[in-house]
Amino acid sequence: MKIQPAKNLQGTINLPGDKSISHRAAMFASLARGTTRIENFATSADCASTLSCFEQLGVEVAREGDTVVVTGRGKNGFRESAAPLDCGNSGTTMRLLAGILAGQPFDSVLTGDESLSKRPMKRVIEPLTRMDARLEADDNHAPLRIFGKNPLRAISFEPAVASAQVKSCVLLAGLNAAGRTSVLEKTPTRDHTERMLRWFGVGVAEEETENGRLITVSGDAGLAARDLIVPSDVSSAAFFLVAAAGLKDSALTLPNVGLNPTRNAVVEVLRDFGAEIEIFNEREIANEPVADLRVSGRGALRPRAGANVLRGKIIANLIDEIPILAVFGTQLAGGLEIREAAELRVKESDRIRAVVENLRRMGAAVEEFEDGLRVEKSALRGATVDSCGDHRIAMAFAVAALFAAGPTEIKDAACAAVSFPAFFETLATVAK
Ligand code: S3P
Repeated sequence: MKIQPAKNLQGTINLPGDKSISHRAAMFASLARGTTRIENFATSADCASTLSCFEQLGVEVAREGDTVVVTGRGKNGFRESAAPLDCGNSGTTMRLLAGILAGQPFDSVLTGDESLSKRPMKRVIEPLTRMDARLEADDNHAPLRIFGKNPLRAISFEPAVASAQVKSCVLLAGLNAAGRTSVLEKTPTRDHTERMLRWFGVGVAEEETENGRLITVSGDAGLAARDLIVPSDVSSAAFFLVAAAGLKDSALTLPNVGLNPTRNAVVEVLRDFGAEIEIFNEREIANEPVADLRVSGRGALRPRAGANVLRGKIIANLIDEIPILAVFGTQLAGGLEIREAAELRVKESDRIRAVVENLRRMGAAVEEFEDGLRVEKSALRGATVDSCGDHRIAMAFAVAALFAAGPTEIKDAACAAVSFPAFFETLATVAK
């Protein structure tokens, strides 16, 4: 994909449905009794992987554009799949599905593509084994063989990493455990699972303790079908927010963006960098906060004192936005340092390495740390960069290309389809 520099961004973009929320909508509708109509379901390849896994487990799925109608079978109504369940590139599919399948009275095999087969699965194998399921995986990597058990043993679990996928895996397994299953989160992560379980009628207890947030579900809970609309994806919005904020005289409107407080730190951080972002028409849809955003490009950005370093608890809140924020660091007086973000090394690619190498190709001054990076304000020049097969790297460097002098070529840009199939067409309609 070849990208030309842009003067600014103009217009209105209806972004696709949120990927994290769409995965959960597909899964929870499958676990529910009855028919759920899901509007603005993510167009992402990852969410298509989730839907096809559940079809293989006997769930009926009808697709009409970006509306998906799921007829659930109840939490114990799935049928054993003769073939392995292919999670594609999707960590959320594999880790949450593992939690659901651990409590079934049959065995399953979860497979993934080359990237997913390198990602750490010990973080879900460990708690599910404690719950009495048996799991086999070579060196804790996919393929994952799950010998289900019903009911599972209820546990109290304290994840070693801040991960919404691990938390959700254990809570979903807890729906098929005898008794109450809890997860204690030291660092808050996205709470879409908790919110959506409630939408489907499941009681989820939450308590702030000295050691963090304690989240509890009961094994006798069942889900009841209930229609919902998925907000547009704030992680997809981030690419356009950064591009418009960084290009003078931009004016871009993004309607219906999900602004869940455990997920929306990117907006506040961009404001701290000096970006002008208006939030209006705030409302709640299916237990998720939603608003319209308007971003204006005002030229040189002067970050607030202290805004040039990101570390600590905020990292989990903007984990998927770090590649695009690092790109933005090249446009900020004082640059940007990101630390305590080692989790980035086990995402769809080693995102620290991918960002550092590509920024260097474009002429930026960057230092790499084990747990992050530091980028100086730099004039970017067009270059050939590599997505490393990672959708967020492909899109982050499309935005870097808009800021650069001369054209940029992105190798393997098609992987953007993992979260945003129409990304490049959408960008072309607003880039002037
Ligand atoms: C996700 C959680 C995050 C995030 C991923 C989606 C989710 O992963 O990076 O893109 O939907 O729960 P971790 O839980 O591994 O941090």
